[in-house]
Amino acid sequence: MKRVVYPGSFDPFTNGHLDLVRRGTRLFDEVLVAVAVNQEKQPLFSIEERVELITACCRGLPRIRIVSFQGLLVEALKAFQADAVLRGVRAFSDFEYELQMAFMNRSLSPSCETVFLMPTVENSFVSSRVVKEIASLGGDFASYVPEPVRQAIERKLKQRRQP
Ligand code: PNS
Repeated sequence: MKRVVYPGSFDPFTNGHLDLVRRGTRLFDEVLVAVAVNQEKQPLFSIEERVELITACCRGLPRIRIVSFQGLLVEALKAFQADAVLRGVRAFSDFEYELQMAFMNRSLSPSCETVFLMPTVENSFVSSRVVKEIASLGGDFASYVPEPVRQAIERKLKQRRQP
């Protein structure tokens, strides 16, 4: 039984993330999508909202669990009895940060392996940060996020606009 942890902020979960989850399920027996607590000071969605949204987005996909974790990823990996970390790389610019993280995690825990997968080219320029920026500026972001996320962002922005 090979279990992989796919960690991230997922604020919000995008089509690129969903793409990675799908690819992960083809390689591993179980994919744990792990929402990291305390990453950003002012997130758009709370941890509970993100877990709920990812659950809605991944409905129907096999052998997936959505969890959250606090503290070091390598500790979470042990707690979840997982074999590896799954991360997406979209462009060379991602790679430097990802490589540093992978080496650091392995330095902290020598058995920690990181598997990198690439999303489809259509999702290669999609990021949570850019989606939030487009949405907050009134642009059309519907093709970059799963439908439950689109609706949740619309609701969130509407709430924020209300006095
Ligand atoms: O989606 P993100 O923001 O790129 O995800 C980054 C994340 C959450 C995977 C990374 O910051 C992380 O693993 N945080 C947990 C704390 C930790 O272990 N830090 C040391 C990693 S080198």
